[in-house]
Amino acid sequence: MSLAVPKDRDAFASGLGAFAATLGSAIGLGNIWKFPYLTGSNGGAAFVLIYLLSIAFVGIPILVAEHTIGRKMRLNAVHAYGTVIPGQKFWAGIGMAGVAAALLIMAFYTDVAGWVFAYVFKSFAAVFTGATLNGKTFEALAGGTWEPLCWQVAVLVLTTSIIAAGVSQGIEKVTKTLMPLLFILLIICDVRALTLPGASQGVAYLFRPDLSKLSATVLLSALGLAFFKLSLGMGTMTTYGSYLPDSTKIVPNATRVALADTAVSLLAGLAIFPAVFAFHGTPAGGPGLLFNTIPLIFSKMPLGGLFTVVFFVLTAIATIGAMVSLIEVPVAWIIEKGHMKRGNAAMFTGVLMFALGIPATLSQNPVMAEVKLFGKNCFDLFDFTSSNILLPVGGLAIAILAGWALSRKAFVTEMNKGYATTPWHGHVVFAIIKYLTPILILVILLSSLGIIKLH
Ligand code: PHE
Repeated sequence: MSLAVPKDRDAFASGLGAFAATLGSAIGLGNIWKFPYLTGSNGGAAFVLIYLLSIAFVGIPILVAEHTIGRKMRLNAVHAYGTVIPGQKFWAGIGMAGVAAALLIMAFYTDVAGWVFAYVFKSFAAVFTGATLNGKTFEALAGGTWEPLCWQVAVLVLTTSIIAAGVSQGIEKVTKTLMPLLFILLIICDVRALTLPGASQGVAYLFRPDLSKLSATVLLSALGLAFFKLSLGMGTMTTYGSYLPDSTKIVPNATRVALADTAVSLLAGLAIFPAVFAFHGTPAGGPGLLFNTIPLIFSKMPLGGLFTVVFFVLTAIATIGAMVSLIEVPVAWIIEKGHMKRGNAAMFTGVLMFALGIPATLSQNPVMAEVKLFGKNCFDLFDFTSSNILLPVGGLAIAILAGWALSRKAFVTEMNKGYATTPWHGHVVFAIIKYLTPILILVILLSSLGIIKLH
C-alpha cells in the first residue's frame, strides 16, 4: 500500500526487503532535523540517554508487537485492530487515533520538508551567486507568509501525487539506493565537524549526561521522539507487518532497524553539535538548528557549496519516504471504508493536511507567533499532541493488547515464525512487551501530568 509496500501481500520476498522497507518509513526528518533540535532544547546527553533507553525498552518491543499483529492479521491497521479479538471492536480506536496522529504530524512535517526543499534551491543558487546561507536566510524563509506556504503546497502536491498514482514502489527503489549515500555524506559532515577547533565540547554535550537536566518534560520528549522516529503507535508499522513474509524473523529485524535508524540520528548529532560549539552557536537553536548549522559546516570545506546542495537533496528524498508512509495511513482507511477511489482519497487527505498545515506553518511568522494555546504555538502544539500524547498512548494500548488481551501462545508463535525452534529471546521479549514497556510508558505519561513524582 504505501511506499515500500507492494500491492500483493507477501511481496517482501527477502529479509533485506523487509528491513529496507521498514527503515524507509523510519528514516526522515526525525533523524536529521528533530533529533538534533530536541537534544539541543532539552539539555543534551541526558536527553540522548533517555532516548536510547526508550528505543531499547519501548521502541523495539512496540515495533515487534506491531509487526507481529500486522502479520497475523494481514489487514490495514484500523481493520487489523478492530478484528484482532472477536467481539472487541474497540481496539480499532488504535488505528483511528493513528489517522488523527498522521494528520497532525503531516501538518508540521510538510512545513519542515518545505524548508528542506527551499534549501535545495537556495543552496543551489548560492553556488552560482557566491551568497552564504545564514541565520537570516532561515528566519526570512520560515518567518515569511507566502514562501513557506507555497513550499508546503509543493511538498503536499508531490507526495499526494505519488500516492494517487500508486507509484510508491518506484520512489521506494530510488530512496533505497540513495540512503547509503546520505549515510556517507553524514560521515563526511562528521569528519569535518569533529576536526573543527573546540569540537570536543560538542561531543561531550551529546554523550556526557548531566542527570540534573532530567525532568518529566525531558523524559516525555525523549519517549515521544522514540515513537516518532520508529513510526510507532499509529498503525504504520502494523501495516508494514501485514506485508512481512512468514520467514522474517521479527525480533532481529526490528532490532536491526532500530540500530540503523539510531545510528543515522547519532551521526546527524555528531555533525551538528561539534559545529555549534566550534562556531559559538546555541544548541537550543530550536527548529532552525539544522538549517543554520549545515551550511556553516560545509562553508569551511572545499566544494562546500556543492556538498550543501547534495545534503539537502538527500534529506529531501528521505522526507518523501516518511511522508508517503504517513499519508497512506488515512488514505488506506478512507479507501477501505469504500467512500472514495485512491486518487480522490489522496487529494482529500492532502487538502485536509494543508488546512491543518496553514496555522502550523504561519506560527513561525512574527504576526502569528504570539497566538498560543496551552503556552504553545500551533506548530509545537501539533507536534506535542501527536508525538508526546497520541503515539505513546497508542503504544501503551498496543502493548496491553499484545501482552494481556491476546492469547500469549498465538502472539509468541507468530512473533517466532521463521525459526525452526523457539529462540532464547522469545519469552524474554514477550515479558518485556507485557510488563516493562507498558510500565515505562505509563510512568512517563503520569509523571508528565504531575500525577507521580520521580524525584
Ligand atoms: N519516522 C519518521 C521520521 O523520523 C516520521 C514518521 C512518524 C513516519 C510516524 C511515519 C509515521 O521522520
